[in-house]
Amino acid sequence: MKPSLEVPVSEGSPYPVYCGTAIEQFLPTVWDRDWRQAVIIGDSKTSALLGASVARSLGRLADSVLTLSFSAGEQNKTRQTKEALEDAMLQAGVERGCCVVAVGGGVALDLAGFVAATYLRGVAHIHIATSLLGQVDAAIGGKTGVNTPCGKNLIGAFHNPRAVLLATQCLSTLPEVELRYGMAECVKHAVVGSPPLLDAIESCPPDPPSDSIVLQSARVKVAVVARDEREQGLRRVLNFGHTVGHAIEAATGYLVPHGQAVAWGMLVEATLARERFGMPETDLERIRAVIGRLGLRRPAPCPFDRLSDHWLKDKKTQQGQVHCSLPCRIGVMADQANGWRTPVRMQMLRRAWEDVFK
Ligand code: GLY
Repeated sequence: MKPSLEVPVSEGSPYPVYCGTAIEQFLPTVWDRDWRQAVIIGDSKTSALLGASVARSLGRLADSVLTLSFSAGEQNKTRQTKEALEDAMLQAGVERGCCVVAVGGGVALDLAGFVAATYLRGVAHIHIATSLLGQVDAAIGGKTGVNTPCGKNLIGAFHNPRAVLLATQCLSTLPEVELRYGMAECVKHAVVGSPPLLDAIESCPPDPPSDSIVLQSARVKVAVVARDEREQGLRRVLNFGHTVGHAIEAATGYLVPHGQAVAWGMLVEATLARERFGMPETDLERIRAVIGRLGLRRPAPCPFDRLSDHWLKDKKTQQGQVHCSLPCRIGVMADQANGWRTPVRMQMLRRAWEDVFK
């Protein structure tokens, strides 16, 4: 069975990405016979839906299958949850020749990937991505990690999976709002590197997106991480919308969900891009229209000063300037000479913010 995509990595062979393949077909295709123990890690929701069928498939491939789950939710993507999972694996006698099978959305993939990155100094893992956000973002690129009270994803490691399944068959079971949040990342990928993807999103029905949209979006991510696995430069373009998006999340005590915050963060940053790099008004208007069409509603008003407080406390802020990765037009990112990120003065950010939230 041919994968839909392959992701080249700096060490070892490229890993395959399958899209829409049945889990029972995917697992035997990618399973390495040296993996004698399988450890399934999923959150409470996905484990209830898929745990038994994944365990049945793995039972035919490995000598033992350990199923672990944790309470669903971003608030549980913590060092404490990681420790509990690791302790359960140690007590069950899981050895280095195991494979961790992460099943779920971004939280489960990031957390299980981080367990795999550090358990006995690193074991193999596979991603079965069930949410749209997980499929187009977290499953690919090897970023793993947990949140801390000081911020999101502050503790983690790069650890590439051995294989990825974008389980698009699961999308029809997701609440509509989750799909909208995932679509925000698809819009980001379109702006970063794929005008045809934006055309497709503009004309897609508001239901689960087609496999083609998921794949086109994943393809942008693969193209970027293939050229910059460790975020030394180009990978920063994937942060478009996230400088402002993360600040909206933090300034509202994470009451605004990530996808909604990134959508409106993209609008503010595209407004900055118009001012700084002459992004055409028509491109900005397309981003505004597609966000509206996807039902990514404007978050409740938040004073700009709360965002600037967040940035000023951030160690990455230098001399009152924050860094944003900005497009010059849809499909083309700016400022390669500066490592694909542009220093922006607080005053300029305030103007863009007020322009969007007036
Ligand atoms: N989510 C952005 C990245 O993987 O670099």
